[in-house]
Amino acid sequence: MPELAPIPMKFRSPHANDPFPRGWYCVADAHEISDGAMLPVSFLNQQLIVYRTAAGRAQVTDAYCPHLGAHLASSDGCIKDGAITCPFHKWTFDGGEGHCTSIPYAAVPPSRTLGLALHPTREVDGMVMMWHHPQGGAPDFEPYASTALQKDKWILFETRTWESTAPYRDLFENLFDTAHIVQLHGASKMPTMKKMEQQGHGLTVHYAIDPEAEQFPIDTFEVNFTGVTAINQLFAGQGWATNFVISATPVDHERFIQKARLYVKDLGSQAANEMIGKPWLERFAYEVSQDFKVLDYKKHLLKPRLCGGDGPIYQYREYARQYFE
Ligand code: FES
Ligand SMILES: [Fe+2]
Repeated sequence: MPELAPIPMKFRSPHANDPFPRGWYCVADAHEISDGAMLPVSFLNQQLIVYRTAAGRAQVTDAYCPHLGAHLASSDGCIKDGAITCPFHKWTFDGGEGHCTSIPYAAVPPSRTLGLALHPTREVDGMVMMWHHPQGGAPDFEPYASTALQKDKWILFETRTWESTAPYRDLFENLFDTAHIVQLHGASKMPTMKKMEQQGHGLTVHYAIDPEAEQFPIDTFEVNFTGVTAINQLFAGQGWATNFVISATPVDHERFIQKARLYVKDLGSQAANEMIGKPWLERFAYEVSQDFKVLDYKKHLLKPRLCGGDGPIYQYREYARQYFE
């Protein structure tokens, strides 16, 4: 087969240059940031820095110094006890509040209004999430936080990362395209969505379980959305449970990073956890690669020609619209 190369998004999506949707975006995993170090990342066409404040809170800021625009993590820019010092003229900023606390060569102390452009930040389910609003508005909802993960002891089994050139809107829409679950992934039966409920954090979808179609005897399968930027998939059976914490964050308008963390409810031994974790992870990773083999090259159709038997794709679009406006 000849190699395919995705053409630029402007030819594949009428939304290619729309602002990124309103919501919470994962920009790092909690274990990636430690005291005394800045993590520079690049998402949503922005240069960002993720770090911990003096109080240990995860925080995201624009990477550029308000003085003359140096990248705060360039050269020997540093953070110490939650205070960030710019490498260029050594101005120092309070990482928690953002304001400038010292200018080594200025006689007059800096104004309290001078400071870093901090982004509202949350740390949930092992992710550091940053708020984005196209018009700069404050958060009007909170990310989904799993009650299951808080209740019991879970093992972070493994994390996988993919870079995709799919139209961003089409990623989570894929979950509602139930026909492809059989036709592309080869499942024996189409999944049935029992209930879709709109919640403060986004959407909760409960699936009907067909015990014969599953590798493990599953009792419940539930998906919780954070807007249109992250999902939590919880599977539970007799004595076991797995939880995929999945985020998708655009780097720019051409590509996004999908990250999936598999948590396994601790069964008390590594061997037992592996017996559950390994097949779940491999199956998931295989299905994601099957998806991206198609999604990476597809076009976002405003009016797909759906037929009887297709999944509730329009229902998802109806839900998703509130975050894109
Ligand atoms: S550019 Fe940062 S201190 Fe001057
Ligand atoms: Fe899929």
